[in-house]
Amino acid sequence: MSEFLPVKTTDRPLTLIAELTYRCPLSCPYCSNPLNYHDKHYRQELATDDWLRTIRQARNLGVWQLGFSGGEPLLRQDLEVLVKAAAQVELYTTLVTAGTLLTLERATQLCHAGLNHIQISIQDSRAAQSDYLAGIRCFEQKLAAARIVKDLGLPLTLNFVLHRQNIERLEEMLELCEQLQADRVELAQTQYYGWALHNRAALLPTPQQLERAAQIVAVAKKSRICPMGILYVIPDYYEDYPKPCMGGWGRRALVVAPHGDVMPCQAASSIPEIEFANVRDRDLDWIWFESPAFNRFRGTDWMSEPCRSCDRAQIDFGGCRCQALLLTNNAAATDPVCHLSPHHDLVVTAREEALEQSLPLVHRSSVASLGVKEAYHK
Ligand code: SF4
Ligand code: FES
Repeated sequence: MSEFLPVKTTDRPLTLIAELTYRCPLSCPYCSNPLNYHDKHYRQELATDDWLRTIRQARNLGVWQLGFSGGEPLLRQDLEVLVKAAAQVELYTTLVTAGTLLTLERATQLCHAGLNHIQISIQDSRAAQSDYLAGIRCFEQKLAAARIVKDLGLPLTLNFVLHRQNIERLEEMLELCEQLQADRVELAQTQYYGWALHNRAALLPTPQQLERAAQIVAVAKKSRICPMGILYVIPDYYEDYPKPCMGGWGRRALVVAPHGDVMPCQAASSIPEIEFANVRDRDLDWIWFESPAFNRFRGTDWMSEPCRSCDRAQIDFGGCRCQALLLTNNAAATDPVCHLSPHHDLVVTAREEALEQSLPLVHRSSVASLGVKEAYHK
C-alpha cells in the first residue's frame, strides 16, 4: 500500500470514472454518452495496458474509488483484469452496468477478481415500459442479474433514472428494490444534456409528479427498505440554485473516456473550446494538476457576475459548466438553473413548454443516425 500513497495531499481527486466503452446493447433516450458516440475516435478504445497504467496512476494520485462505466463495461473482455489490478492497489470498485450481460459465470469471475459493488440500472418497474425505454427486451435479464449479485453476496445498488414517463411508478420501483433486496437505490433525476436535452420536452416531470414523488420517498426513507440508503434529489430545472456539479470542476473526480481523453465530468467533451489531454500522451498527475482543461474552471477566478460576488460561489461553484454551455452557448456563464442567472428564463420557459407538449421519445441510436447538429436542434 505505501508505494501508492498520494503524491500530493491537497486538491487530490477521490474518484475515477473509467468509461471503458460507449458500445451498449441498449439505446436509452436519456443516455449520458456524447451524441457523437459513434465517431471514429471513440471507437479507438484504450488497450488493456493503457487502462492498467491509468488505474495505477490514479491510485498514486490519491483516488480511492473507481467506477467502471460506459456504455456497457461488460462488453470489455478485459474487465476482470482491470478489476484485479484495481483491487491490488486497494481501490474500491463499482461496476455500473445495465445488467443484461451479467451472467453468473461473469459475475463470479468479477467477484473473484476483487470487485466490491455492482450497480444495475432499471428503466421502469414494469417490463413493457422498461423495455420500451431501453429499446430492447431486457427487463427479466436485469432482475436475474440483480439476483446473481445478491447470491454472490456483493452489495447491490439499483439505479432508476426518473422522468415524466416513469415517475408515476415510483412506489412500484421501491417495491422492486425491496423484492430484489437492493442494499441501496439511486432515484436519479434525468440530467438534461446530451441525449436527454434532445428529449427534454418529453422527459421533464410536472410539479405535481414531483410533489407526490417527494412524499413517497419520505415514507420509504422512514421504512428503511434499503439499508444503505435511498438517494433522491429534485431535478435541477426545479431548483432555485444549481448543484455543485461533480463537486466542482477539477475538485473531486476524473473521467476517462473510452479513447483516453481525461475530463472533469462526463459531458465535458461537449465544450468545444477545451482540448482534453489523453492518457496515451500524458500521466494523470500532470493532467490533474497542470493541464489547462482541469484548471479552466477551477476555483472562482474564472467567474463573472453574478457568481463572482455571490456568497454561494464556494458552495456550488457556479453550477454545471456543460449545462451553461448547452443553454447559453457560453461554458463560463452562470448555470441558468440559478435564479440569479440572467439566463434563468431559459429554464423557466423549458419547464413551461414541456408541460404543453407531449413529444415521442427519440432513442439514442435514432438520434445518431440524424447527425449531431440536427439532433440538438430538431
Ligand atoms: Fe451559485 Fe453563481 Fe447562482 Fe451564486 S450566482 S448561487 S455562485 S450559480
Ligand atoms: Fe460537465 Fe456539469 S456535466 S460540469
